[in-house]
Amino acid sequence: METVYFNGELMPKSEVRISPDDRGFLFADGVYEVTPAYQGRLLGLEAHLDRFARGLGALRIEGDTTAALAGVCERLLEANGLDDEDGAYVYLQATRGVAPRGHAFPVPSVTPTVYGFARRIAWWSAERWERGARAVVVPDVRWARADIKSIALLPNVLAQQAAVDAGVDDAILVRDGIAREGSHANLFAVLQGALVTHPCNHEILAGITRAFVLDIARDLGIPAVERPISLQDLDAAEEVFLTGTTTEVRPIVEIDGRPVGSGRPGPLTHALYLGYRQLAQSALPPTLVGG
Ligand code: PDD
Repeated sequence: METVYFNGELMPKSEVRISPDDRGFLFADGVYEVTPAYQGRLLGLEAHLDRFARGLGALRIEGDTTAALAGVCERLLEANGLDDEDGAYVYLQATRGVAPRGHAFPVPSVTPTVYGFARRIAWWSAERWERGARAVVVPDVRWARADIKSIALLPNVLAQQAAVDAGVDDAILVRDGIAREGSHANLFAVLQGALVTHPCNHEILAGITRAFVLDIARDLGIPAVERPISLQDLDAAEEVFLTGTTTEVRPIVEIDGRPVGSGRPGPLTHALYLGYRQLAQSALPPTLVGG
């Protein structure tokens, strides 16, 4: 029986009742967050909860939604027997709440709907990782606030489906000749030995894994620059990889049917992946906080 969190309580998933008037259902009026857990230890939880709070603030969703959620994440792992699992993640979502349909915020204001669950995830095996991921390029048709982790994910859904339809693993979102990120992960390229990744602005999600990887690169002495990646850069890149909570550090070895570099995961991707796995498995609480 799956135990979930709903509006202040842990309960069996079957007991959750969500109104059809919930603004999440009617307007996708809400934000979400996904935090990874390795052997029951949540990685970067503080940074994830900060981003959640920032998203709620940007959408002006009020209420005491983030304060108690750190404990909730741990209790969700425990209640579902995931506290000693190798891989799991905790999903949290808050919507503006329940009110008869109308575009503007409800008056008087309503209490946000908060939902959370924990789930096992199988990270890619070493063998799968060595084969790498294949990707297609798709137009980025998202709204102008990709920095908000909105539950309105239709462009991301369509992008990932385009990848599935093409028989590959992921999609790279491109706008105005710039490769911004993956359908649910950030994008890095290696150009002349240096890491390049899109700067954190309204055009991408400021990934927590991205921030960890930049910290690890600095520790390893790998040069990194935050600037847009053009399609030409992508063509010329020695290595390309994705970073994300459910993606970890994942090499892309083929884009639109053409090999990236040697067509195999490259040395910098490998070093950063090992660094990330080490951080994830470490018994120490992370001193690195992304954001
Ligand atoms: N996706 N960019 C986008 C568009 C994302 O949806 C995500 C995360 C990331 C990576 O962010 P982080 O490293 O903080 O997970 C980048 C989550 C995991 C999802 O939708 O499942």
